[in-house]
Amino acid sequence: MSSRRAVGPAQAVTVRAPAKINVYLSVGTPRADGFHPLATVYQAIGLYDDVTARPGGSGTVPVRVKLAAADHVDADAVPLAPGTNLVHRAAELLGAHHGRRLRSDISISKAIPVAGGLAGGSADAAAALVALDRLHDLQTTDEALLAIAAELGSDVPFSLVGGTAQGVGRGEQVTAYVDPAIVEAAWWWVVVPSATGLATPQVYAHFDRMRPDAHEAPVVPDRVLAALASQDPTSLAAVLHNDLQAVALDLRPDLVDVLADGEEAGALRGIVSGSGPTCVFLCEDADHAREVAGRLQEQHPVVLVATGPVAGAHRVEYV
Ligand code: C5P
Repeated sequence: MSSRRAVGPAQAVTVRAPAKINVYLSVGTPRADGFHPLATVYQAIGLYDDVTARPGGSGTVPVRVKLAAADHVDADAVPLAPGTNLVHRAAELLGAHHGRRLRSDISISKAIPVAGGLAGGSADAAAALVALDRLHDLQTTDEALLAIAAELGSDVPFSLVGGTAQGVGRGEQVTAYVDPAIVEAAWWWVVVPSATGLATPQVYAHFDRMRPDAHEAPVVPDRVLAALASQDPTSLAAVLHNDLQAVALDLRPDLVDVLADGEEAGALRGIVSGSGPTCVFLCEDADHAREVAGRLQEQHPVVLVATGPVAGAHRVEYV
């Protein structure tokens, strides 16, 4: 989140929001509302969507959304029709909070793979909240932005906060780690997206079939925080864990090979990100990540390198 303001009405505000991975994810049995209680360590990584808000909208459609997608992004999988994108809902909820209807044209410049377990839709919603707030000079408090973000989706508050943070509840209750050893650590990840996505509800439904005995009260073990604070990639590699991984692999057995390919390419360890199907591989440092990525590129069409942690949704342009 960014609070510095320019003077006078804005013509265009661009906000950048990062992808997330789950360094650790423990999932419990579903709550009465159907959501799963979880305890996770989120990390924002340097793979971004940019969202630009301008004055606009048409008579019947207050918020129009258009998309420019990177080559590796399946643009057809992004809903843009009125009311279908999380960005429309973000505008609705933010407008309702201020008792007005926000009119804007929004363009999303997308580099985060769609339905990949990287919270790309959540990143767009978080970026749209901040961009619309600044464009319309709404001066929404951080508390209100976080509450609206939680209503939009379980991962949206983390997309605002960024860094390395704990998520509990259904993931929407986010607390940034403040231990300087955790804040200042730099991790290098190789990211292998999949050509076809996985729908998060489908993965959680399959989790219920596979894991009827899941924990009642998931927690992040202290050893995970100790590994993060050690700043040692080998220590972190040893504690990476995702309760949804076995589920994603059962739905998508091809991912078993992707994980094996990354480890054969020399990564310290690979893990499915969130509900998948993107696989992320922890490496020693930048050079090691480039080397692993180079090897993986021989077998996989899209291989990205990203460092984490990075900032949550933040303004990059205001004209
Ligand atoms: O919160 P969000 O809209 O991103 O969640 C998408 C879907 O993923 C939910 O409708 C639910 O099926 C599932 N989910 C869940 N438990 C969570 C988060 C998401 O069951 N903690």
